[in-house]
Amino acid sequence: MYDDPSSPIARRLKNVQGQIRAVLNNSAPGPIRIVSLCAGQGRDLMEVLADHPRARDVRARLVELDPRNSSSIQKQVDDLGLDQIEVVTGDASITDHFVEMSPANLVLLCGIFGNIVDEDIKRAINVCWQLCQTRGTVIWTRHRRAPDMVPEICKWFEQCDFERIWVSVSDPDFAVGAHRFSGRSQPLVLGEKIFDFLR
Ligand SMILES: C[S@@+](CC[C@H](N)C(=O)[O-])C[C@H]1O[C@@H](n2cnc3c(N)ncnc32)[C@H](O)[C@@H]1O
Repeated sequence: MYDDPSSPIARRLKNVQGQIRAVLNNSAPGPIRIVSLCAGQGRDLMEVLADHPRARDVRARLVELDPRNSSSIQKQVDDLGLDQIEVVTGDASITDHFVEMSPANLVLLCGIFGNIVDEDIKRAINVCWQLCQTRGTVIWTRHRRAPDMVPEICKWFEQCDFERIWVSVSDPDFAVGAHRFSGRSQPLVLGEKIFDFLR
């Protein structure tokens, strides 16, 4: 489906990649720390890193449960020779996976909010206080099926000291959002479960 450019998932991917590019373009010189939860095949980040001049400044950890997907990410990492990108086959809902990588400059929560209950979306947004550094960005996605939760999700971010940078409005199938953290990040609390993935 990603390979059909007209499919919703491919259009969503392009939007996410546009926001990742914007974060990299606007990052101060020096290391850029990124975490990706439920990374899938990692196409959002890896395809951007393939030709981005800041690729070697990125230190990332991508956590994905399905070993077929994580080995696909690892292949992209190896092909690009980006050995500072770490691929973890594991449960991204457990905070322990983000030790030493939090708070990050960029947190990717893509393909998650449509697969967890609302309470878990709120919990994930709250945990971004630990995952995301001050002035860091969270990029997230959500489908727009009724009831459209995108306005609520924006409200939850904004109640938690995240400023809206950009939310896609034109696509009827999905939203991609980018929110910047203006609060003070908190130390990572280990052993916390953030969400239960429903499907
Ligand atoms: C909808 S896909 C999204 C993939 C990618 N982030 C994207 O936006 O294209 C959801 C991914 O989450 C993975 N997944 C589900 N539960 C997970 C968990 N608890 N920890 C890590 N990955 C999980 C699935 O294997 C799947 O690859």
